[in-house]
Amino acid sequence: MPTSIDVFAKVRGHEREELLRAAREAGLLPYFRTVESPALPVVEMEGHPRIMLASNNYLGLTADERVMQGAAEALARYGTGLTGSRLLNGTTPLHLELERELAEWMGTEDAIVFTTGHQANAGTLGTLLDSGDTVIVDSGDHASILDGVLLSRAKMRPFRHNRMDKLERALIRAQDDGGGVLVVVDGVFSMEGDVAPLVDIVELCARHGARLMVDEAHGAGVLGAGGRGAAELLGVDDRVDLRMGTFSKSFAACGGFVVGPAEVIDYLRISSRSFLFTASAVPAALGAALAALRIVRSAEGPALLAAVLENARYLAAGLHALGYRVLRGEPVRMGPAPDAEVATILTPIIPVLVGDDWKAALLWRALYDAGVFTNCALHPAVPPGRALLRTSVMATHDRPTLDRALEAFERVKREFEADHGPLPGPAES
Ligand SMILES: Cc1ncc(COP(=O)(O)O)c(C=O)c1O
Repeated sequence: MPTSIDVFAKVRGHEREELLRAAREAGLLPYFRTVESPALPVVEMEGHPRIMLASNNYLGLTADERVMQGAAEALARYGTGLTGSRLLNGTTPLHLELERELAEWMGTEDAIVFTTGHQANAGTLGTLLDSGDTVIVDSGDHASILDGVLLSRAKMRPFRHNRMDKLERALIRAQDDGGGVLVVVDGVFSMEGDVAPLVDIVELCARHGARLMVDEAHGAGVLGAGGRGAAELLGVDDRVDLRMGTFSKSFAACGGFVVGPAEVIDYLRISSRSFLFTASAVPAALGAALAALRIVRSAEGPALLAAVLENARYLAAGLHALGYRVLRGEPVRMGPAPDAEVATILTPIIPVLVGDDWKAALLWRALYDAGVFTNCALHPAVPPGRALLRTSVMATHDRPTLDRALEAFERVKREFEADHGPLPGPAES
């Protein structure tokens, strides 16, 4: 008998359909807005200039002449696409150069470049973990980590975001699971911009015999003296087994990478399905990423890294002074030494808490109309009742532009609160 269930039925009448329709009708949908100009501190969106406070272009390198030149040269030399897997016809000298320089920069034996960061996570976790293993993940970890875990069918033990007592409990429980144990955390969490307490995490992993992988998507090209990420900043880069990063943020392109011991990277090269069964990245993306990496590693790197954090400090202080509730992460140990300082770490991600989903969409729209584009993060991207506007800065935002953004935030807050009641204030944080 033919089946009576249509697999397409779920696309009709699902729980978010009504909400999306209402948001679209009210002009409040913050997603799929079109950007009609290059990714710069001010962009053209839907016919108007808007200050871009929603990008991951932390170092502002997408419009850098040298990065554009790197992309153009790769395009001219290798063409528009490689039309095949890295295994077959998709490896160029550019890949090998990029992998060698990444490993050298990160101080590891080897590096592997994937077509996207998502594939780097999914392809690493889906390959290294077996169904008999246990993987312990922070509840705030990026979706690509969870996708890799699902692919692997390993036993997943999530722990509450950044709670070391919960991590320790998961590590103790995992001892009886019978397989290997891997802990995976984001170095910098993408929505709230807070940092994992990696000093505690490496100590716990060592004590319980677990391996550790850190996703440095928002840390590489941002944190640490050399821009290597949260693990470098916290002085534990040599104690993290695997580090993942992406070219889609500070490196102004698209692609992902994993660095670590040569034997592991080599194993990924011959076994990782999202490495083998997908086409290699377009040459222009690789050329741009390599040029951006060279800028980060050059004498100019430290000034760029300092500039983005200085802009973050300025915007966060400005929003706080206007009465917004700017979320800050919990303080973390700044190094493995017993007397290491404990401090809150600033990142280019400055989240403004709103709480209610509709209010967040309304505030997002008011700012958009005032010429400021932010990211609106609603559940499930954030916990229920924790809707926020995720703002982020670039090294290339200048002060007048940030001041104009702050003026818009000030004006909008006044009008918004008159119409919709108070937003969470800094006093409650
Ligand atoms: C923490 C984190 N990991 C991984 C990824 C995936 O990277 P990509 O955009 O290169 O696929 C992202 C980007 O969205 C991210 O924020």
